[in-house]
Amino acid sequence: MLLPIPDVLTAEQVAQARKLLEETPWVDGRITAGHQSALSKDNMQLPEDHPAARQLGETILEALGRNPLFISAALPAKVFPPLFNRYQGGQSFGTHVDNAIRQVPGTGHRVRTDLSATLFFSQPDEYDGGDLVVEDTYGIHSVKLPAGHMVLYPASSLHHVRPVTRGARICSFFWIQSMIRDDSARTLLFDLDVVIQRMNSERPGDANAVQLTGVYHNLLRRWAEI
Ligand code: NI
Repeated sequence: MLLPIPDVLTAEQVAQARKLLEETPWVDGRITAGHQSALSKDNMQLPEDHPAARQLGETILEALGRNPLFISAALPAKVFPPLFNRYQGGQSFGTHVDNAIRQVPGTGHRVRTDLSATLFFSQPDEYDGGDLVVEDTYGIHSVKLPAGHMVLYPASSLHHVRPVTRGARICSFFWIQSMIRDDSARTLLFDLDVVIQRMNSERPGDANAVQLTGVYHNLLRRWAEI
């Protein structure tokens, strides 16, 4: 499932982040690429241990922790500390698949990358190109969202970033290990949750919604790895 999540950050949070990101040094993005993806990756990144990356990463994780759509869609078990990248002057990232396992720097923790996330900090009219293009079983999807919005997509999918031919595209990117490893099972739970939420808002106290909530939790109990 490929899912846009609107308004993860407020306009004020985006503005503060942009200011901080303008004051920081960027380095060659190949430092976090696997052997194969390093061949096609051409962008700049914030060093992972830079205080600005840590600070903005915390802001993003706090926002996601309060975002019902993210929680329902991702059913997160672990979230990799957000990284930050910038494309400009024709930079791009060719077709690749993200590494399956990521070691969290400075810890013994590993994250299995079930979902990839890209959170946009630049407005679409600030740059040309730079679309995130994701290939899944339903076809090819081109994604370019307003600043503060995020897209979630299966980390197993082939994807690339088209060359940025004007301006700069600044984003955060990171991975989520879900309690539900299988994308189709996770999508099914999400679809079920959407219906339950709708029933609860249209007919509060509906006994059918209570029963369906029971089904949701019993499926979650059956499938979740925590
Ligand atoms: Ni990638």
